[in-house]
Amino acid sequence: MAAEGAGGRGGRAARYPPLSALVASAIAASSAVIVLAVVHSAYDDAVSRTRTLLGHNLEPTPWHPFPHAKGRPPARAALRCAPSIACLPPLSRPRPPPEPANASSSSSLSSRGNNNNKQCPAYFAAIHRDLAPWRGAGRGVTRALLDAARRRASMRVTITGGGRRLHVDLYYACVQSRALFTVWSLLQLMRRYPGRVPDVDLMFDCMDRPAINRTEHGGDAAPPPPPLFRYCTTRDHFDIPFPDWSFWGWPETNIEPWNREFKSIKSGARATRWADRVPTAYWKGNPDVASPLRVALLGCNDTALWRAEIMRQNWDDEAKSGYQHSRLSSQCTHRYKIYAEGFAWSVSLKYILSCGSMALLIEPRYQDFFSRGLEPRVNYWPVTEMGMCESIRDAVDWGNANPGEAERVGRRGQRLVQGLRMHAVYDYMLHLLTEYASLMDFRPVAPPSPDAHEACEASLLCLADDKQRRFLEASRAEPAADEPCVLPPPPAAA
Ligand SMILES: *[C@@H]1O[C@H](CO)[C@@H](O)[C@H](O)[C@H]1NC(C)=O
Ligand SMILES: *[C@@H]1O[C@H](CO)[C@@H](O)[C@H](O)[C@H]1NC(C)=O
Ligand SMILES: *[C@@H]1O[C@H](CO)[C@@H](O)[C@H](O)[C@H]1NC(C)=O
Repeated sequence: MAAEGAGGRGGRAARYPPLSALVASAIAASSAVIVLAVVHSAYDDAVSRTRTLLGHNLEPTPWHPFPHAKGRPPARAALRCAPSIACLPPLSRPRPPPEPANASSSSSLSSRGNNNNKQCPAYFAAIHRDLAPWRGAGRGVTRALLDAARRRASMRVTITGGGRRLHVDLYYACVQSRALFTVWSLLQLMRRYPGRVPDVDLMFDCMDRPAINRTEHGGDAAPPPPPLFRYCTTRDHFDIPFPDWSFWGWPETNIEPWNREFKSIKSGARATRWADRVPTAYWKGNPDVASPLRVALLGCNDTALWRAEIMRQNWDDEAKSGYQHSRLSSQCTHRYKIYAEGFAWSVSLKYILSCGSMALLIEPRYQDFFSRGLEPRVNYWPVTEMGMCESIRDAVDWGNANPGEAERVGRRGQRLVQGLRMHAVYDYMLHLLTEYASLMDFRPVAPPSPDAHEACEASLLCLADDKQRRFLEASRAEPAADEPCVLPPPPAAA
């Protein structure tokens, strides 16, 4: 090809360099082409071989299919994020211990920081209940149980090396950027508590609905069920709830990392005093998530009859208009805010509670890790699914007749999530993983490559697109100055 090209210009050769030079440059050109071709095929090869957290070459979960956009990852991702070169120190090398300040102050690790002995929020006690199936003589988390859990997992995660290295073995693609942000959340936990995160081997499913049915696994007395982490559970499941990705941000809906988002919602909430808030109930969300509950809720959209305003959120339109109408901080204008589950639990609960309006919860079935801190008529108001519109109307009428009490319910709801800032989220993760690790009957080792690859901040950041990267960087943790809160003991009865 190159020779033909050179020959084509031969007619005017006299005014050009001698033939030997032409040949040489043709060789150079063609070798450049070859180099490019090699690079290109290495790129394609890397793209097709490297299973990444973006899920571009993974299958959707068979038990939970979803519209799966199989885009190519950004070119830099495939080249720079090759698993073998991606993870360099600092995380893969033990960090030096925090500077041995001076002899007097470093005498006792437990006196470090100023909140030692601070009790964790009461809902942390649910960790004991969640892990109860694996506790006790002859029980425990075994390799065989993890193999069983694998059948419903989208990834396996190991933390080894004294809580300093993280490996992921990806089985299926997670929807949107959940896998990226969930692995990031673990890396940030390791960053916040260097050397304190226990070595673990765990199975994680990033899809919505719990899978380990309590009845099918014979209840509490039967052999232990497969241990599977996910974002939520129910009373009828053994799935182990873990903080969802949205605490680190949800780029697809422009929802910022939780500390920022809470701050902005709270200051938005301050702009409208209780007395000035619209005395009706408000909901804004996406009804098209295969949720009969949300569809039924559309039928309560009548302020005169049901005291409720139900608004549809269209994320595609919102993305086009720069999210001008979906800012959560400008949605604290009503005294009552409705929470309706979607396909499973909804990440919106914490944003709704942040407003300090009285939250009307329509009989939640799913629980995430902190919603176990909810108490009816204390920090939210229960609404029944049967006769839902009437139930909403009655709650609003009660609140308007008892404005002081309704406002206090709203404030206590806000206080629940105020206590759930990122330090508490990390403490929950740390306690959960520590308790889980104590139940493992084997010593975790990283799964062999090429199945698994190491993940570290650099390898995640280079996979991320610009927006994801902005969210990841904004949600970076800092090493804790304080000790984690103290986990409440298991309830005496158990
Ligand atoms: C060591 O501790 C003393 C007393 O608490 C303090 O005054 C001093 O600044 C500390 N030195 C360093 C290097 O932190
Ligand atoms: C659990 O399994 C039982 C028996 O197969 C079934 O009847 C029940 O509906 C399942 N529960 C849930 C919550 O899926
Ligand atoms: C609910 O009613 C309001 C006012 O009539 C309307 O603007 C809004 O579009 C309705 N919501 C839905 C989801 O149809």
